[in-house]
Amino acid sequence: METKRVIIKDAAYPRDEELMEAAQVLRGGGLVAFPTETVYGLGGNGLDEDAAEKIYRAKGRPSDNPLILHIAAMEELEPLVEDIPEGARRLAARFWPGPLTMIFPKSKIVPYGTTGGLDTVAVRMPADPTARRLIALAGVPVAAPSANTSGRPSPTTADHVWQDMEGKIDLLVDGGPVGIGLESTIVDVSGPVPAILRPGAITREMVEEVLGTVEVDPAVAGPMAEGTAPKAPGMKYKHYAPKGELTLVRLKEETVRELRRPGSTLYVQVQSALAAFGMSLGRPFAQLDLESFYMARKVDEAARQMEQTGASVGVICTDETMAVYKTCLKRSIGKRAQADTVAHNLYGVLREMDDLGVQYIYSESFVQDHLGFAVMNRLDKAAGHRILAV
Ligand code: TXA
Ligand code: MG
Repeated sequence: METKRVIIKDAAYPRDEELMEAAQVLRGGGLVAFPTETVYGLGGNGLDEDAAEKIYRAKGRPSDNPLILHIAAMEELEPLVEDIPEGARRLAARFWPGPLTMIFPKSKIVPYGTTGGLDTVAVRMPADPTARRLIALAGVPVAAPSANTSGRPSPTTADHVWQDMEGKIDLLVDGGPVGIGLESTIVDVSGPVPAILRPGAITREMVEEVLGTVEVDPAVAGPMAEGTAPKAPGMKYKHYAPKGELTLVRLKEETVRELRRPGSTLYVQVQSALAAFGMSLGRPFAQLDLESFYMARKVDEAARQMEQTGASVGVICTDETMAVYKTCLKRSIGKRAQADTVAHNLYGVLREMDDLGVQYIYSESFVQDHLGFAVMNRLDKAAGHRILAV
């Protein structure tokens, strides 16, 4: 199949002429990849089981992994679901359109082929103007998983989509790089207690502000206990994975404690190493706190040890820690002090490591609150929970 690429001149103000063909393809049962504010989606008519089947085939994705239905307006929600709980209405009022997906009991018109056989359905109203206009023009709910080959990092640029989907889909709407770079937050509102099944840019703190409390599905925190099933079927697969073996380097709690206790042996040691490092640069190195400096040193150490075996090794660092590294191949994932830049660049950096044929990747870790919680969730999954605690 030949894939057509339609470039949107100004993705903030897409013109209907630019989207009309894509909308027709969707209505006709074909596949269209399109930008959203989170990641690129691979869309098909969500009420058409054959279109869902095509999506699974193009992605190489197991068909028990349900798809998210994308809508353009609130009225489009009602026909898709059995019930809209009060909490869901409040979340929608606050965060839709936006990077929030909610799980509802599904109505009869939603085929099991779209929900992976489940009686629930995931729905999201994206904020991206191109996505929203395309969905409105298509006039059908658009089922769209991330537009990557199953198991690869989600696409945050049109080129990423092209790498994975060229020849497998009818059309790619190229709206340039996405804004957020991590998939939407998923909140299950179908049960008695709302639960976050996947963290994202709508943070736990933000959801709690609206709902009071929200649970976090245990599958989000780490590897699943033997015999338990995550509520979001997608969370059980090795996800977001680069081809190289990724290790996430984290500070032990006791390390953090020591580094925060002026006068401790470790504190004194790292403080003077940081001062010496600043001197070696010929300028005071004020932008780095002890914890980040210590972590960067440890990541560098692990990477260089691996380099000695002759393997090709890459490091994922930050703008602030970049200068600390002696490892050859290093890429900054963004500004440590600004989690949104880290989220935005994460998948791009993982893909770049793949393109460079890196065999072993070592990454710094991040504070796990707000958006950092989602960043660490994706890094942890990409690493297959391989963690080096230092
Ligand atoms: O930001 C996003 O959500 C992007 C863009 C394209 O909108 N889409 C996306 O879709 O990330 P996908 O298919 O890659 O991830 C959807 C996740 C999967 O983990 C899936 O298991 C879960 O949502 N999911 C879908 N329907 C569900 C349901 N009924 N119950 C529980 N989890 C569900
Ligand atoms: Mg995905």
